[in-house]
Parts: sequence; structure tokens; C-alpha cells
Amino acid sequence: MKAFIFDLDGVIVDTAKYHFLAWKRIGEKVGFSLSIAQNESLKGVSRKESLDRILAWADVALSKEKKEQLLLEKNDDYLHQIQGMGQEEILPGVLDLLTFAQQNNVPVSLGSASKNATAILKKLQIDHLFDAIVDGNNVTKSKPNPEVFLKGAELLQQEPNNCIVFEDAAAGIQAAKAAGMISIGMGGAEEVKSADYCFASMTEITKEFITTL
Ligand code: BG6
Ligand code: MG
Repeated sequence: MKAFIFDLDGVIVDTAKYHFLAWKRIGEKVGFSLSIAQNESLKGVSRKESLDRILAWADVALSKEKKEQLLLEKNDDYLHQIQGMGQEEILPGVLDLLTFAQQNNVPVSLGSASKNATAILKKLQIDHLFDAIVDGNNVTKSKPNPEVFLKGAELLQQEPNNCIVFEDAAAGIQAAKAAGMISIGMGGAEEVKSADYCFASMTEITKEFITTL
């Protein structure tokens, strides 16, 4: 049986909408209106890199200190929005797949760009279902760089080609491909159509399909 590597935001839980709102408000502070398409390209990208891209789109240059301040404000806004989040926000089918993995000795890692990942898994009460966690605190290169997934494979002691990555972002699918892993695009967005397989929801992923992989 292969190993699973899950992205967090937009795959396990729909936090993508909270990130979007928080980035939109940061954009407004520098006189910029972040579009849905631009936001889509920020998915899977680290906090710092996301701010740099927004400032470039806005054609605004800021001091290092001002940027640090905006990064703090963005995260405060985001954390405020997810304050009351609980198990009910886990996306459909996720718990079933994690339980399937546990029952069948499938090693599971998180592969997320978020520095808030561990806190979120705890809020959702599913941290115990992961054998390894790789997040924004353990990597130096943002997706589409494969570092986050390769570290996950290493921690699980698996060969990259034995890993299946679940991702909702174009940058994440590129990272999975660059790592030499099987990619599953989640959520049905046009941007993830380049994945090896695509599903609108995890409820569509059958045990038979997983077994054929
Ligand atoms: C990714 C999200 O998972 O994590 C991005 O798709 C987000 O939207 C990035 O910017 C970093 O997250 P955080 O929680 O460290 O700001
Ligand atoms: Mg994501």
C-alpha cells in the first residue's frame, strides 16, 4: 500500500476562504483589490511569498519592517477568523480516508505551507491520525518546490514514487510532480486539472480506486 501526503488548506478543511479574506484586507491597505484568479495562484504559497506577490501586483515597495507588520496583521486576522473552528469544518470524506489509512497501515503525512498547521489539526482533533507533519515551519522553499513533500516521504521512510499527494492548488500539484509522486487534484478547480487524477470531493474517492493505485 502506498503512503498518503495531505495538503491542509482546501483539502482537509476549507480555510482557503479565510486566507482569501485576510489577504484581500491586506491588499486594500496598500490600495489594491485582490481578484479571485490572483488569489487562486496564491494557494499553497507561503505567507511571506504571498505578500511579496501581492505587493508586486500592487506595484508597491515597502520596507522590511512594514512588510513584517503586514504579515503579522494578516495572520492575526486569519487566526481570529478560525478561532471557533472545530471538527464540523473538516471537508466531507476526509475522516473516512484518514480512518481507512489508519486501519490499513497506510503511513500518512501532512505536507502544508502553513505555519498554523499543527494548531489547526489539533482544533480539528485529527492530529493523532498523522504519522508525520511537515509544514511551513519545517521548509525553506515554497511550493511548487517539492521540498515539503520530499520531507514528508523521508519522515515516513517511503520512496517518493510510493507517495500519493492530495492537493487543491496548482503550486501543490507542480510540487508533487516535481517530487515524482502521484498527484490527486482536489476541489475541481481548472488549476488542478494537470494532476494525475482529479476529484471534486474526497467522498468520490473509493477504496477500490485507492487500492488500484
Ligand atoms: C497554504 C495556503 O496552505 O498556506 C496559503 O494555501 C497560505 O493560502 C499558506 O498563505 C501559509 O499559511 P499560514 O497559515 O502560514 O499563513
Ligand atoms: Mg491547499
